[in-house]
Amino acid sequence: MDQHLFTNAIVKENDRIPVTVIGLGNMGQALAAAFLRAGHPVTVWNRTAGKADLLVGNGAVQAETAHEAVAASKVIVVCLSTYEVVKSTLIPLAAKLAGRFIVNLTTGTPNKARLLDTWAKEKGIEYLDGAIMAVPPMIGTPNALILYGGRKELFETYQPVLQVMGGGTTYLSEDTGVALLYDMAMLTMLYGAWYSYFHAHALLRTANISAEEFLPYTKDWLQHMIVPSLTSSDAARILDERQYETDVSNITVNKLTLDHIVNSSRELGVPVDWLLPIQTVTDGMLAQGFGNDGFERVFESMINRSVATPLDQNR
Ligand SMILES: NC(=O)c1ccc[n+]([C@@H]2O[C@H](COP(=O)([O-])OP(=O)(O)OC[C@H]3O[C@@H](n4cnc5c(N)ncnc54)[C@H](OP(=O)(O)O)[C@@H]3O)[C@@H](O)[C@H]2O)c1
Repeated sequence: MDQHLFTNAIVKENDRIPVTVIGLGNMGQALAAAFLRAGHPVTVWNRTAGKADLLVGNGAVQAETAHEAVAASKVIVVCLSTYEVVKSTLIPLAAKLAGRFIVNLTTGTPNKARLLDTWAKEKGIEYLDGAIMAVPPMIGTPNALILYGGRKELFETYQPVLQVMGGGTTYLSEDTGVALLYDMAMLTMLYGAWYSYFHAHALLRTANISAEEFLPYTKDWLQHMIVPSLTSSDAARILDERQYETDVSNITVNKLTLDHIVNSSRELGVPVDWLLPIQTVTDGMLAQGFGNDGFERVFESMINRSVATPLDQNR
């Protein structure tokens, strides 16, 4: 779908309320541009003023100060580098922010989001925390997934405005930290996959095999072997029910495979540090007599016992 048509189509005239965007890094600029395309009056502020030039050329108003930017709109979209920067920017403006709506799209930890929400409540500020699961060129398109945590009523009130930033605008939970929890869970899978991908190619490079050459073999294999183990309901059920019996591939055989990977890597001079903790956990499972269980039992070593999850409570 055409990006321009998409954003304009979903915003009714009455919903084109003024929006302020604080932070004009790569992401903040994309967010502000999406609001401009959708016809919202947009005020912007950034520490480095020059980053507003393109947006001003397209109709945004550049505030001289963050205070002036906040005063211009009821809806304040914040997208800065860290929560520390968000706090140092917003805390001095608390009085001016009272009664306004902050949607914070900065990445951080779930607890930082919860603490900022508590601060906002104390100051009479409406607050939602969002996690952008997209890159700047996707902002304002149907494919941009943006997850939200916080008061549902607030999400519903502002949904037409939030929707401008992405077709995948999704409410998750009254718990303000949950959007970033999803974010961190997805990104953990991303970096784990990337790191193992680089390791695989470092192994191949020892025989002068290029990434391109390997592609035809890895594509189908990933699709049939790995994708279902991460994305199927059957795989999810194993973790949710914590039942690890298998007649397919048990820890004993997986432990041997891990040893082969570590030994081959050492033989070929590829660093193995990141694989050693996996070996240690697997050895521990074998020592406890779980050799006939599936490899998923490793999950048991990671569940934080000090925090009772709802799944645990139902047991
Ligand atoms: N880019 C992505 O693909 C992407 C995807 C999902 C989520 N995000 C999240 O979006 C947020 C912004 O990312 P980005 O890509 O826009 O980063 P960026 O291009 O590096 O921009 C960082 C922003 O933070 C501001 N900033 C940094 N330190 C500051 C300080 N001490 N005081 C005031 N402002 C300060 C910068 O202002 P100056 O311009 O003055 O330096 C700029 O506006 C991050 O939390 C990131 O994790 C980004």
